[in-house]
Amino acid sequence: MAKDFKRYTITSALPYANGPVHIGHLAGVYVPADIYVRYLRQKGKDVAFICGSDEHGVAITLRARKEGKTPQEIVDKYHEQIKKSFEDFGISFNVYHRTSSPTHHKTASDMFRKLYDDGKFLEQSSEQFFDETEKQFLADRYIKGTCPTCGYDEAYGDQCEKCGSTLSPSELINPKSMLSGESPVMKETKHWYFPLDQYEGWLREWIVEEHQEWKPNVSGQCKSWLDNGLRPRPMTRDLDWGIPVPVEGADGKVLYVWFDAPIGYISATKDWAEAEGKNWEDYWKSEDTRLVHFIGKDNIVFHCVIFPSLLKAHGEYILPDNVPANEFLNLESNKISTSRNWAVWLHEYLEEFPDKQDVLRYVLTANAPETKDNDFTWKDFQTRNNSELVAIFGNFVNRAVVLTHKYFDGKVPQRGEVYERDQQFLEAIASYPEKIEKSLEQFKFREALAHLMDLAREGNKYLADNEPWKLIKTDEARVATIMNLALQLAGSLAILSEPFLPFTSQKLRGMLNQTTLDWSKAGTADLLDSGLKLADPVLLFEKIEDKTVEQQVQKLMDTKMANEAAEQEPKVAPAKEVIAFDDFMKMDLRVGEIKTAEKVEKSNKLLKFTVDTGLDKRTILSGIAKHFTPEEMIGKKVVVLANLAPRKIMGVESEGMILFAENEDGALKAVTPGDLAQNGATIA
Ligand code: 2FM
Ligand code: ZN
Repeated sequence: MAKDFKRYTITSALPYANGPVHIGHLAGVYVPADIYVRYLRQKGKDVAFICGSDEHGVAITLRARKEGKTPQEIVDKYHEQIKKSFEDFGISFNVYHRTSSPTHHKTASDMFRKLYDDGKFLEQSSEQFFDETEKQFLADRYIKGTCPTCGYDEAYGDQCEKCGSTLSPSELINPKSMLSGESPVMKETKHWYFPLDQYEGWLREWIVEEHQEWKPNVSGQCKSWLDNGLRPRPMTRDLDWGIPVPVEGADGKVLYVWFDAPIGYISATKDWAEAEGKNWEDYWKSEDTRLVHFIGKDNIVFHCVIFPSLLKAHGEYILPDNVPANEFLNLESNKISTSRNWAVWLHEYLEEFPDKQDVLRYVLTANAPETKDNDFTWKDFQTRNNSELVAIFGNFVNRAVVLTHKYFDGKVPQRGEVYERDQQFLEAIASYPEKIEKSLEQFKFREALAHLMDLAREGNKYLADNEPWKLIKTDEARVATIMNLALQLAGSLAILSEPFLPFTSQKLRGMLNQTTLDWSKAGTADLLDSGLKLADPVLLFEKIEDKTVEQQVQKLMDTKMANEAAEQEPKVAPAKEVIAFDDFMKMDLRVGEIKTAEKVEKSNKLLKFTVDTGLDKRTILSGIAKHFTPEEMIGKKVVVLANLAPRKIMGVESEGMILFAENEDGALKAVTPGDLAQNGATIA
């Protein structure tokens, strides 16, 4: 049976601050985590609910390139937006931190340094793709090419989004750098590897033997990683955005984002604890603390294999007691996709459905992808609202409160004689807290919510069976007992619904003038004292019309059509970062004329030109041999970047660059100044 823990550290995956959050995020991670935390708090537990923005890594730098902004501008923008969305939906973090914070930089850096000093890393050199034009090593996500499995020609260096294959960049056919569009070359680089293979035996024991209670989708994925054999993983990267590697000889290198991000949970706890006058170490280093990570399935290996091994290597930290990862939520039968705008964004939902946070929380929990991927449809959203929230929960509460106002001037009536069937009703109510609790303790949130709705159904049935609206004419005392008991049930609903529907619970408590949220009081018959005056009834839920959901479906159809249209259009490379005017003016662009052209020995890419730049006649090499013959280039007027630093390519010094326009499909055309321009004419 579950150990009795003294305190709880509950984390939910740090979202990348590279875009707004959508329903997939809520359903997979944040709503279940929030339900669990709210329940624990109602049980009086000491809980730290931790989250924050994940602000490093290639996900951020790619977005920055796409938006023509700096990475810092990107994380500042999305951090605030994401934080607000979570607040708006009642996700009750104790702290929403960020990995760009000084506390985090220090914590992650210190952790790396300690592991380094303790000899936990291997230093290894290997060949990695390097972009010679941009002078940069390329992260896997910065390389695109043809997928060796399905032939899709836009596959990334780590994954093909078409067929789902996991790839390494060297497997791509015809790899291209996404920075320059050039074919990258292999170049040696040094990194610090964490020898995961050395932890395999321990991991197997810890996960497979000691944690048999983990969800099958989680332990299944862990076993498959272990069965495939673990290999050392580099914990550093060649990138200019992130936390500098705190050892000698690591210039230009940063910590791997998946090394630093989970440490973000610890950094967040530190700042929160300090502000609250608590000791952060109690939440991370004390065996009587239960650590639980809420994540999506794509994060399982990082939270169940890599991060625990790092913590184990460090030696002072507790390990996660459970990692209740969810599968994915699809939207109207298609994978949610940020780049294709195939999502229900939380900020947009709230604009279109103001004050209906709980409806979404409800639908996403009732349909949560707990054991397999699930689908969100607007039709299901409408049905669950109209047939469940309105017709069952809302209807019961409304009848109980409205009838009390009608018959008893809005005051909780005194109970009289309790009949056998009332007794059965009371026993039924009393059984629900334990049922819900049991499901919550097993992270079965859908089941827990179904129990809650069954409790509301009990209320409807009780009123329907006893028909107080008929009895009132003949037996007011009996009606008083019926309404008293119905209101006690409404009181239990207020308590037990709080984790799932916090906004509704608050409204309901307001109506009932009920102050307690104490979980242990739920299911009892004495939540509301006789004579207590109720507030005026308010509707907890309202019907959603066909028109409203049809509009939402139409919005998605419009997105689909826009995506299809965009796919037909010729593609253009993403915008580059904005540069200062002065930087532009540094370029000495001139008209030149190609005087001679020849192939370069041993190269099937390069042509060697003599170009008359008006200033001089000089040698320039271009990687265009696949597109043009030397003969067709002779006599052409071209645009030359005349002050590019000379570079030696295949033993020949190239003194400038000839400008070409390149289509996304790779077709080239020389940029021509027109016939009238004289050699040496400047271009600006
Ligand atoms: O997959 C993601 O969105 C990651 N940003 C999750 C990080 S979780 C944790 F390690 F911080
Ligand atoms: Zn593929």
